[in-house]
Amino acid sequence: MFTRIIAYSRPYWWRIFLAAAASIGVGSMDGAFAYLVEPILKKIFAGKDMFIFTLLPFGIIFLFLLRGVCRYTNDYFMRTAGQLAVQDVRNEIYKRNMGLSLGFFNRNPAGALMSRVLNDVSMMQEAVGNIITGLFRDGFSAVSLLAVIFYRNWKLALITFVVIPLTVYPAQKIGRRIKRLAKHGQEKMGEIASILQETFSGIKVVKAFGLEEREIAKFFDRNRDFYFFTRKNIKYEALSAPIMEIITSFGVAAVIWIGGNDVMHGRMSASEFFSFVTGMVLVYTPIKRLINSYNAMQRSMGAAERVFEIIDEKPEIVDRPDAAELERVGGNVTLQDVSFRYNDEYVLRNVNLEARRGEVVALVGPSGGGKTTLVSLISRFYEPNEGAVLMDGKDIRQFKLKSVLKQIALVDQETILFNDTLANNIRYGMPEATDAQVEAAARAAFAHDFIMTMPMGYETGIGDRGVRLSGGQRQRICIARAILKDAPILILDEATSALDTESEQMVQKALNNLMANRTTFVIAHRLSTILHADKIAVLEKGEIVETGNHETLLAHGGIYARLHDMQFQDSQKGDE
Ligand SMILES: Nc1ncnc2c1ncn2[C@@H]1O[C@H](COP(=O)(O)OP(=O)(O)O)[C@@H](O)[C@H]1O
Ligand SMILES: [Mg+2]
Repeated sequence: MFTRIIAYSRPYWWRIFLAAAASIGVGSMDGAFAYLVEPILKKIFAGKDMFIFTLLPFGIIFLFLLRGVCRYTNDYFMRTAGQLAVQDVRNEIYKRNMGLSLGFFNRNPAGALMSRVLNDVSMMQEAVGNIITGLFRDGFSAVSLLAVIFYRNWKLALITFVVIPLTVYPAQKIGRRIKRLAKHGQEKMGEIASILQETFSGIKVVKAFGLEEREIAKFFDRNRDFYFFTRKNIKYEALSAPIMEIITSFGVAAVIWIGGNDVMHGRMSASEFFSFVTGMVLVYTPIKRLINSYNAMQRSMGAAERVFEIIDEKPEIVDRPDAAELERVGGNVTLQDVSFRYNDEYVLRNVNLEARRGEVVALVGPSGGGKTTLVSLISRFYEPNEGAVLMDGKDIRQFKLKSVLKQIALVDQETILFNDTLANNIRYGMPEATDAQVEAAARAAFAHDFIMTMPMGYETGIGDRGVRLSGGQRQRICIARAILKDAPILILDEATSALDTESEQMVQKALNNLMANRTTFVIAHRLSTILHADKIAVLEKGEIVETGNHETLLAHGGIYARLHDMQFQDSQKGDE
């Protein structure tokens, strides 16, 4: 895992190289400091050397100045390298996310995914940025200080050294805990993000049902859970330094005892001893920090695991290695013995359906019957478990996914508009479209007139204050988008069901323009919109139970006739 993270820093090697060089500077300065204690003490206090004494303050300032420059260089380049690497990780996780199939998004709430891209990657950043910085710098400091103390007195140094391995075991144990806790904590953060995402985007429903209190309580709850994991994390991290210090205190005590004895018996000079003690005291600091970095690294590894889970996620629907480009089709669509299930249960069973070029095929039936699922298979959002979907007689799985999607324009109930200008929203599927093309599409969608009443016409931003589009207006923007895409196959999934009768008529006219010369699959609640379909298929519990046109199905006297009678009565009531 760590090597994977490091791999992302590879493009920024020269920054890391500079930073590493600078950390050698910092480290050797630490070593020099400990080393110089001996000659300075000897010259000044034993030798009463005034010249060295006068130089001393300048020397100290110079040393720290040099150390400061190195430290800055080290920090700056290492952390920018970290940021750049993390930026790449964030880009990569987003790119991978976008490449995944719809099934993945059904399984993972949007908020939780957002949290991975934002929070987990940020936590991972610690590993790449701060920690590596520490690793280099503290590592070099430790090495140079150890060199000094070994030089001064290797026997004493060995005693110092012996306790260091003793700290490794608890450090590892604590580190593992921290990693696990961090992963759980980040899961909780994902849940928090999901609540935010759901309640902010569904705020109207929350308010309408007066459920603010309940949502707030839920949010408080998750936040407390998050604290729960973080608190444990804090506990272990806070424990780790004292534990290390207590263990090392044994080393310090032993060294002072034995070293002090040596000095008293004249086996070592006092200045050497102080140089040694300085080095020893100094060496514990970088080592302690190294252990802290290790803990922080474990924390970010927990987050990194979550990040790589997404990066490693394979899309369910991929191009075959020999996939060809599907040229613009004529518009014959065939479903051949198609069966499909999302999970265990079959949602479509042995569906056979054919739409010839330019035909309108209507899908009707009770909700949950599988209509949306059926058209999702035509768009290849999912692939059938059995059977095949053909376009112009060829299995769409032979072709590149992108080229299949080019054949289809989809308008459904969800009128998704992006925070951009009206023109760019219409242009969404065809960024290269000219203004004239955009306008032509808007006219055909009966959107031109209301767009012209907007403060800035086509350049009005959707997110702008005061710009509120009605459901019908939004729908007509989406239709204009589909018209501009000019695909041979059109899918209308309850495109008008969210609209009132008046805007429905408007949208219906727009749809009629859109449907001209295309093969159309239309799903609609109101049978009035499908009276003139060339073929009507009734889907119930995943099976096509009736097919025919309006007249034959009425004459047949089955489900369709019943649905028709029900609506006919309704509309008569409405007319009274
Ligand atoms: N993403 C999904 N994951 C799992 N089951 C689903 C999913 N979408 C729909 N279903 C199930 O598939 C069945 C058919 O749904 P759908 O195609 O949306 O019906 P319709 O559009 O006719 O109302 C339903 O039982 C529904 O619960
Ligand atoms: Mg549906």
